[in-house]
Amino acid sequence: MVREQYATTTEGTTIERPENKYVYKIGIYGWRKRCLYLFVLLLLIILLVNFGLTIWILKVMWFSPTGMGHLRVTNDGLRLEGESEFLFPLYVKEIRSRVDSSLLLQSTQNVTVNARNSEGNVTGRLKVGPKMVEVQSQQFQIKSKEGKPLFTVDEEEAVVGTGRLRVTGPEGAIFEHSVETPLVRADPFQELRLESPTRSLSMDAPKGVHIKAHAGKIEALSQMDITFHSSDGMLVLDAETVRLPKLVQGTQGPASSSQRLYEICVCPDGKLYLSVAGVDTTCHENSHICL
Ligand SMILES: *[C@@H]1O[C@H](CO)[C@@H](O)[C@H](O)[C@H]1NC(C)=O
Ligand SMILES: *[C@@H]1O[C@H](CO)[C@@H](O)[C@H](O)[C@H]1NC(C)=O
Repeated sequence: MVREQYATTTEGTTIERPENKYVYKIGIYGWRKRCLYLFVLLLLIILLVNFGLTIWILKVMWFSPTGMGHLRVTNDGLRLEGESEFLFPLYVKEIRSRVDSSLLLQSTQNVTVNARNSEGNVTGRLKVGPKMVEVQSQQFQIKSKEGKPLFTVDEEEAVVGTGRLRVTGPEGAIFEHSVETPLVRADPFQELRLESPTRSLSMDAPKGVHIKAHAGKIEALSQMDITFHSSDGMLVLDAETVRLPKLVQGTQGPASSSQRLYEICVCPDGKLYLSVAGVDTTCHENSHICL
């Protein structure tokens, strides 16, 4: 940029040039000078604007010697006070609450926790939605503090391992098919009913059915016949009094010789037998059946 003009001198000749008065004049003049000043001015303005912007950014971003705004850089890492919003996934190794507070995961939509295998396929899912909580897994288990399974569900069965299963709803429990249990018992001081309101009820036990009422009576009511049938055994009515209060009494009708009548006789051990009725009692004649 610097314009230099030299006096060219050749040996032996001295030529006076008209430009000679400008010799050794070094500098920038005219429009170049103005351009330079303009440039320097522009630079100054840019510098000032830059400085101002830096100050503004520092102020807006709340820069401080320890960090930026609510973000503090500590020896252990970062500490962010105030709300933070991540619009895209946040990858962390562990999420913990602070020592003195609980941890809350909150959403107006579903909250989903997924377990994935190495291929990235979901192998287990817990979804808390506004209308339901859904667990998708091969097995769902609730354990006690000691590790005892309290409730286990898989495709095969649901196991309730608690000491007691209590159904408190007024409608009780409904089983579509059979209930297998060695004992059905009422609560203490409650009555137990076995009921089939519109159909029949049958009790079936090949090795015996025992009905006991140690401090009460047993009553069987039926609109139709009551039949006790034993193929090999006998029917024992073991009571001091046996009554048949509504037994129909025979009336004297036209006697026919072909009509055979019997009387009921009783052995000492309570066995009943029939004996052909005569003028007098005939029980003795047929009492060999008692032997
Ligand atoms: C929340 O979960 C339910 C049940 O899986 C699903 O039907 C519903 O579409 C989900 N809602 C959103 C917003 O993803
Ligand atoms: C993962 O899921 C994809 C899509 O459902 C399926 O094609 C693939 O076989 C799965 N991989 C495994 C290992 O189950």
